[in-house]
Amino acid sequence: MADQAEENKQSEEEVHYDLKVVDEKFYGDAKVYWEKISPTVDGMLGGFAKISPTDINGSRAFLRPFMKISGGKVNNKKALDCGAGIGRITKRLLLPMFDSVDMVELNQHFLNEARGFIGSESKRVDNLFCSGLQEFIPEIGRYDVIWCQWVLGHLKDKHLIEFFKRCKLGLSPNGMIIVKENTASDAERDFDSSDSSFTRPRREFVDLMTQSGLTIVKEEKQKGFPKGVYDVFMFALR
Ligand SMILES: C[S@@+](CC[C@H](N)C(=O)[O-])C[C@H]1O[C@@H](n2cnc3c(N)ncnc32)[C@H](O)[C@@H]1O
Repeated sequence: MADQAEENKQSEEEVHYDLKVVDEKFYGDAKVYWEKISPTVDGMLGGFAKISPTDINGSRAFLRPFMKISGGKVNNKKALDCGAGIGRITKRLLLPMFDSVDMVELNQHFLNEARGFIGSESKRVDNLFCSGLQEFIPEIGRYDVIWCQWVLGHLKDKHLIEFFKRCKLGLSPNGMIIVKENTASDAERDFDSSDSSFTRPRREFVDLMTQSGLTIVKEEKQKGFPKGVYDVFMFALR
């Protein structure tokens, strides 16, 4: 544990050093974009609120077999929702499955709405961390599941790798990271200048996960989304 603490301390120093030299415009533009977005499910999903139930059902079916309660190894004590917005995933997916949830989100105005949106069960949301994932350091060994959905395109490759490494340290024994993201069908990634995000091809995600020292234990394409949207892949990582 002492070694782990030392490793995390080093990564904290690296994070801060790295962000001084980072492309501030890339992260700044995303912040400005999301500041203007309404704190609603439609706002979270770019006008596609209607896909939320399909999304949540797909996520639940993907995660459930790993949980102790279903014969798997993952505890149901504590989850972390990354790029949580107003807590759509926290409310519908994580709180029904875990004793408590922490949320980390870049924009304070989403977090301000989160407890109201989640309702009475928000008493089981312990922490609302206002932070970019590129700077966030999960507490060592705290989380049974770290859920990252529709946010990792906002991190540059180098920062995504470092974030994944910190998440790995943040997992409890048998804990897992879940990534659920849009993927580009071409070999090249797409860049969206309006919200300052990348859509990476599946292959690039796999490479970045491997470079982070993570192992993919399950992978699945989300079914039932409307035609014309990006393919969405779920990855379970250890
Ligand atoms: C497409 S929304 C998805 C919200 C939530 N994951 C969901 O599926 O309902 C993207 C969210 O990521 C947040 N975000 C953008 N860049 C971020 C960053 N660098 N670190 C943390 N959150 C970020 C935005 O403020 C927004 O709440």
